[in-house]
Amino acid sequence: MKLSRMTALLAMTVAMPAMATELEVTHWWTSGGEAAAVAELAKAFDASGDKWIDGAIAGGGGTARPIMISRITGGDPMGATQFNHGQQALELVEAGLMLDLTDVAEANNWKEIVYPPSLLDACTVDGKIYCAPVNIHSPEWLWLNNKIYEDLGIPVPTNWNEFVATAPKVREAGKIPLALGNQPWQSNLAFGAMQIAVAGLDAWKAVNVDKNMDVAAGPEYAAVFQAAADARELARGSNVQDWNQATAMVINGDAAGQIMGDWAQGEFQVAEKVAGKDYTCLPGLGLNQYISTGGDAFYFPKLDDPEKEAAQKRLAALLVSPEVQVAFNLKKGSLPIRGDIDMAAANDCMKKGLEILAGGNIVPSGDMVWSPDVQKLNEDLMVEFWKSDMSPEDAHAKWVENLKSGL
Ligand code: GAL
Repeated sequence: MKLSRMTALLAMTVAMPAMATELEVTHWWTSGGEAAAVAELAKAFDASGDKWIDGAIAGGGGTARPIMISRITGGDPMGATQFNHGQQALELVEAGLMLDLTDVAEANNWKEIVYPPSLLDACTVDGKIYCAPVNIHSPEWLWLNNKIYEDLGIPVPTNWNEFVATAPKVREAGKIPLALGNQPWQSNLAFGAMQIAVAGLDAWKAVNVDKNMDVAAGPEYAAVFQAAADARELARGSNVQDWNQATAMVINGDAAGQIMGDWAQGEFQVAEKVAGKDYTCLPGLGLNQYISTGGDAFYFPKLDDPEKEAAQKRLAALLVSPEVQVAFNLKKGSLPIRGDIDMAAANDCMKKGLEILAGGNIVPSGDMVWSPDVQKLNEDLMVEFWKSDMSPEDAHAKWVENLKSGL
């Protein structure tokens, strides 16, 4: 009797894993492709014996970030949270609210494996590492519906200029040339993609890295504002809110193209569209094939709970691990943060991104080079510009003022 009870108890101990530690993880990944990608993170964390409590916040980063920040500063921190690495979480780190992950980074050789190193630099404050980067996401892509062009009997554009030149035919056929959602960051993203495509790398660096305001006010950037005015015309009639609704317009053949980040790839994938056959992706809008290497990272608010802190560190290590990097990024459409993993399963678009990355044709992201305040001013300006008849010249002058306020 005694023996069988003991055996039963023993069996229970073996069968029952140690109590899983729950961590609430907040993020703004709610589109089909994003949800599929974040599910990979949750799956891996749960499989490792802990428990991912999903804290998705709808409405995009612009809605989610203030909520995340106020929870952390207001004494209701989550176990982990997404931010774009760069300056978004800087004030939280400086206020001493975020967990130092330097020991995790050292134990897992992040300094040796994370590529490009700027990703880890963007997590580092005063020599300490405060975030686990999960991807490189590049916003400089033009996504095109091939069938629209086939039906019109014209070749699918290979760059922004061809896209603009063929837009009247698209319009005549009753389609919207350029899908654009109404959330402020989307018009800002489109403008950012045009900057590097139209102004070129040297002018881009002069303005965004060296903060040369003469170049900002000069002819290369006047051309960018002119291109933005063209794009504004092409987007007339595109009355959707979320970025993935705009992507859906391209997928469904209501619009010919969208300027959007590599995460659009996840939506085409969920819709079972094939890169190169059903749709075309043009990094650098097909003009200047540079991508910026911002991305998503997870930060871990201090919780004053040793058990949770250990789980936070386990999650940080897991996010950077090869298996999670492959599974997550294949679903997300973004690029992995390490070059030592097998991405053979990548589709045509991801391969283009990987090639650009391998060639070193990369620039820092807006979040890395400008403060959230400047970013916000420019978002507001872009909303006004895209939704009104503001002249490119006026918008240009205002934009230079915005940049100067951040110097
Ligand atoms: C970005 C984020 C991407 C992406 C996008 C749209 O801020 O870094 O991963 O999914 O928002 O939600």
